[in-house]
Amino acid sequence: MGDLAALVLAAGLGTRMKSDLVKVMHAVGGYPMVSWPVEAALEAGASRIVLVIGHQSEKVREYFAGEANVAFAVQDEQLGTGHAVACARESLSGFSGHVLILCGDVPLIKAETLRAMLAHHEARQAAVTVLTTHLENPFGYGRIVKREGGRIVRIVEEKDATVEEREINEINSGIYCVEAEFLFDAVSNLKNDNIQREYYLTDIVKAAAERGELCVSFTVAAEEEVMGVNDRVQLAAAAAVVRRRINEALMLAGVTIIDPATAYIEKGVKVGRDTIIYPNVHISGGTEIGCGCLLEPSVMIRGCRIGDRVTVKAGSVMTDAVVHDDVAIGPMAHLRPETELKSHVKIGNFVETKKIEMGEGSKASHLTYLGDATIGKDVNIGCGTITCNYDGVRKHRTVIEDDVFVGSDVQFIAPVTIGRNSLIAAGTTVTKDVPPDSLAIARAPQVNKDGWKLKKK
Ligand code: UD1
Ligand code: CA
Repeated sequence: MGDLAALVLAAGLGTRMKSDLVKVMHAVGGYPMVSWPVEAALEAGASRIVLVIGHQSEKVREYFAGEANVAFAVQDEQLGTGHAVACARESLSGFSGHVLILCGDVPLIKAETLRAMLAHHEARQAAVTVLTTHLENPFGYGRIVKREGGRIVRIVEEKDATVEEREINEINSGIYCVEAEFLFDAVSNLKNDNIQREYYLTDIVKAAAERGELCVSFTVAAEEEVMGVNDRVQLAAAAAVVRRRINEALMLAGVTIIDPATAYIEKGVKVGRDTIIYPNVHISGGTEIGCGCLLEPSVMIRGCRIGDRVTVKAGSVMTDAVVHDDVAIGPMAHLRPETELKSHVKIGNFVETKKIEMGEGSKASHLTYLGDATIGKDVNIGCGTITCNYDGVRKHRTVIEDDVFVGSDVQFIAPVTIGRNSLIAAGTTVTKDVPPDSLAIARAPQVNKDGWKLKKK
């Protein structure tokens, strides 16, 4: 294959989104819409990408900052798709090869389709190849006007089309492969003598025909791949397609998803085989989950590393946590960043953790806050335990060594260390270190008053 560059047109505002945020930065499956065509182009072999940006260009730049293969061309005024391509001329000066042209608002195109289009383009030695599809209702799209033999002679926009042309149901996806030299020459000679007074990129087809250059179509059957996103109804439809693709790949790799329509798993998430995912589970942020896990309904997991045979019960929320094998979490547990649970740990209902390490086999089964703590092995944390880690200015650590038994309703006023194999009696407020092998108890002695009645008769 020859040298390949890609242009992604993304300068428009996207008025129909009715949004303060530029259209191409709206998220599809957790990532900005425009990132999908960019990735598809890279995957298809493009060595460089030029993004044509205009509205809120700084937001787009910021997202791609640090991507060595992505450059930017600015289109200050949106004078049409042809004008947008002309704005990228400088960015590709000296480049002579194939140019893939993609739209920032057509996120579902697959790399394999682009590769197939490129192969077709090379085999036919075309100057322009247009990715097309057949639609039952082609309303709104540019129509492909062909001559016998399949050459495209013209693309006509809905608004400029005659009644007969509107009957054509082969439509322009807005995705093309064009020879660089021809492309930039053709776009600099475009005219805006059409209904919308725009410089149409589609007019390069006519220019090619006039010069005797070959212009062909490459047709995809799956119309969803070329679906454009113009409003939030289409945004939701595109997101559903992305989810379906991700879920299908996981299921084929051995993950059970009880109801794929309600499994919200982002790109980049890894899930091992024989893990079972119940409805309304959200997994994102590059989370990795091992084999044989069980994720009950309404669990939210972001940025976590989870081992094998872990159970996360209903309603639990986990962020940036590391969980080893055979751990049980929830229901309704909240694991916050920098939580690390070693194997066979149990975190029960209404337990919140943050910046803690919990050793093998330790348990906090109910109603507890553990923050800024190092907890050893086989520690039992009683119901209602609180690490009082914050003095209003700074955070302090609680250290609980192996085999400690913490009774119910205990507060640790950090910084404090509990030596191994000690027992903290229920109801104790721990204000100073506890040596190993000892009992700490701090409660006011109970007084029973004889003859005292709640309602005096
Ligand atoms: C375009 C095609 C139409 C095709 C359709 C497919 C033209 C003239 N028409 O129409 O044949 O069926 O896409 O979706 O090309 N953009 C810029 N700068 C501009 C104008 C547009 O960057 O000045 C970008 C937009 O941000 C968008 C893309 O180009 O990502 C397409 O522009 P849009 O205005 O949506 O074109 P359509 O009217 O949909
Ligand atoms: Ca469009």
